[in-house]
Amino acid sequence: MSQKIVRVGIIGGGLMGKELLAATKRWDALVDHPVRPEVTALADPSPAVRDWFINAGVKNIYEGYAQLLADPDVDVVYIAVPHNLHEEIYLATISAGKDFLGEKPFGIDLVAAKKIVAAVQESKVFVRVSSEMPFYPGAQGAINYVKSGALGELVEVRAGFLHSSDLDTKKPINWKRQVKFCGAIGVMGDLGMHVAHVPTRLGLKANSVYSMLDKIVETRLDSKGNEVPCDTFDNAVLAIKGKSSSQEREFPMIWEMKRIAPGESNTWFFSAMGMNGGVRFSTRNPQVLERFTYKDGEQSWIETQPGHKGNWPVITGGIFEFGFPDSLLQMWAAFFAEREGLLGDKFGCARVEEVLESHRVFDAAMKSHTSRASEELEN
Ligand SMILES: NC(=O)c1ccc[n+]([C@@H]2O[C@H](COP(=O)([O-])OP(=O)(O)OC[C@H]3O[C@@H](n4cnc5c(N)ncnc54)[C@H](O)[C@@H]3O)[C@@H](O)[C@H]2O)c1
Repeated sequence: MSQKIVRVGIIGGGLMGKELLAATKRWDALVDHPVRPEVTALADPSPAVRDWFINAGVKNIYEGYAQLLADPDVDVVYIAVPHNLHEEIYLATISAGKDFLGEKPFGIDLVAAKKIVAAVQESKVFVRVSSEMPFYPGAQGAINYVKSGALGELVEVRAGFLHSSDLDTKKPINWKRQVKFCGAIGVMGDLGMHVAHVPTRLGLKANSVYSMLDKIVETRLDSKGNEVPCDTFDNAVLAIKGKSSSQEREFPMIWEMKRIAPGESNTWFFSAMGMNGGVRFSTRNPQVLERFTYKDGEQSWIETQPGHKGNWPVITGGIFEFGFPDSLLQMWAAFFAEREGLLGDKFGCARVEEVLESHRVFDAAMKSHTSRASEELEN
């Protein structure tokens, strides 16, 4: 199959910008993909980051993002910058008429996210939001089982992302630990869209939220060894009254987002239990998908091994383990195929309406933290 070359510019070449470049280098693992992305440009104020991309062979290197947006050799942009810059850079990219994949949380708060989403909706640009964990084959299996209707009346839904990234209190502070860069929503901005994506895609939405937001480590050392405030929430547990068009009764939905989860490394999980069936999947053990049925008075669990059967077919043997870089490759495969109108019925990247819905939940969670009561979502 001949592939269409799509030229990609990266704004923000840190952790995630580099991951995109690496994903394009493994592109041949995808079978019959209609697009071949080529990273032609990078914009980043950090000289060390620019050097990294020069060494990786990227031709057009800029200090400022406006130069990249004016580059005629850029068809699509990936924006992976601190949250305080989302509104400015996403709006500029829309004004430049460039399609893009924007990193979550897609605006530092609900107000910023609303502005960006309104601008996307008024434009003709193709925009999706980064969220790769649902591309794990086990997560896809869980999604499909819920969609099949096998669960019956929903009893409870749980979704979460548990990190140990901040367990080390000696770890120096960075922008993700400061409200002015990361946002007052703290860990919900960092991990929340990962948690919201699957429930929201399945139509499992929130009516109201009671939140428990926790600041555990109050100060950290900066790069000069000075103790400075670490003022973002580390952990968030949201008790949500959920709604679904398939039933009248509200059901409990628990979302957990933690940067300090002792005993966990990078655990993303989703479970949904109903009166007739249930499902649970966790990246802690990506080779296990558990499906539950309740029939004729008997409860049974079936364990399957989802292997490497991705959303987009790959050359990798179906029995092999799937991991984080594979989920990024699958997310990008879905993004570029959907942009060409060739995704078919495969799972697509998070949409701007979905990230806005997640922000409405986080906004209610912030209000609940102040009122110490359950809060309805703002319309
Ligand atoms: N999808 C995921 O799994 C995932 C994981 C981590 C982070 N993220 C998201 O990705 C985004 C970036 O996070 P990161 O971990 O890559 O951060 P990072 O700090 O590693 O990288 C951010 C980069 O942005 C650059 N930058 C700062 N100001 C800029 C400007 N004006 N123009 C261009 N570049 C600028 C910095 O120099 C840095 O290289 C955030 O929105 C974050 O929430 C997503």
